[in-house]
Amino acid sequence: MNERIHSQDGRYLTFALGKGRLADKTLELLEKTGITCEEMKDKGSRKLVFVNEELKLRFFLAKGPDVPTYVEYGAADIGVVGKDTIMEENRRVYEVLDLGFGKCRMCVCGPEGARELLKHHEMIRVASKYPNIAKDYFYNKKHQTVDIIKLNGSVELGPIVELSDVIVDIVETGSTLRENGLDVLEEICPLSARMIVNQVSMQMQTERIKKLIQDLREHI
Ligand code: PRP
Repeated sequence: MNERIHSQDGRYLTFALGKGRLADKTLELLEKTGITCEEMKDKGSRKLVFVNEELKLRFFLAKGPDVPTYVEYGAADIGVVGKDTIMEENRRVYEVLDLGFGKCRMCVCGPEGARELLKHHEMIRVASKYPNIAKDYFYNKKHQTVDIIKLNGSVELGPIVELSDVIVDIVETGSTLRENGLDVLEEICPLSARMIVNQVSMQMQTERIKKLIQDLREHI
């Protein structure tokens, strides 16, 4: 194991991981393939970059929406982030692997009464943390002109306080919707954690990255 994940030329392979549960799950998966980063397990540490000298690997944690940015610019060779963020940020990166965890759905949600507004292609207000995904869905797929309002969290408030008619948001267990009297009205797409790769790194470190993808695939 790991014979080719080792650097051939002393170069580091750098990973940007979206902070939080995705990062923990990613480290668990990497560990199964023999890649560990002991330094990262110290939760009390304020360190930002962690290194595995033996395998010439570096890891850093970043805010989810920043992960595709680090990868596009080559500050990280590899990133792990949710499909929602990949779609919203729309960066020039290769999406190479579905990691199979962090499964949820991007949906249009709202009170039952809003179903009719969607059906009849009315001019409605849509609140979302994902304005690009909302725009693409309503403008390009449904050909419906809507007013999109960007929010930064607790998006379910939108229809409750009548800021918007519906929301475009992530649904995992559905409990946030249920507890607030909202429903899934339309499903946009399934989501999960994905591995993304810098386009130049893919050419320059092909063997090493391919071996990593293959090892991960065997443990998903
Ligand atoms: C996400 C999402 C929903 C909720 C869905 O919010 O925006 O609000 O999780 O999960 P559920 O279907 O299991 O209830 P998050 O917790 O990330 O916080 P936010 O509302 O501040 O974005």
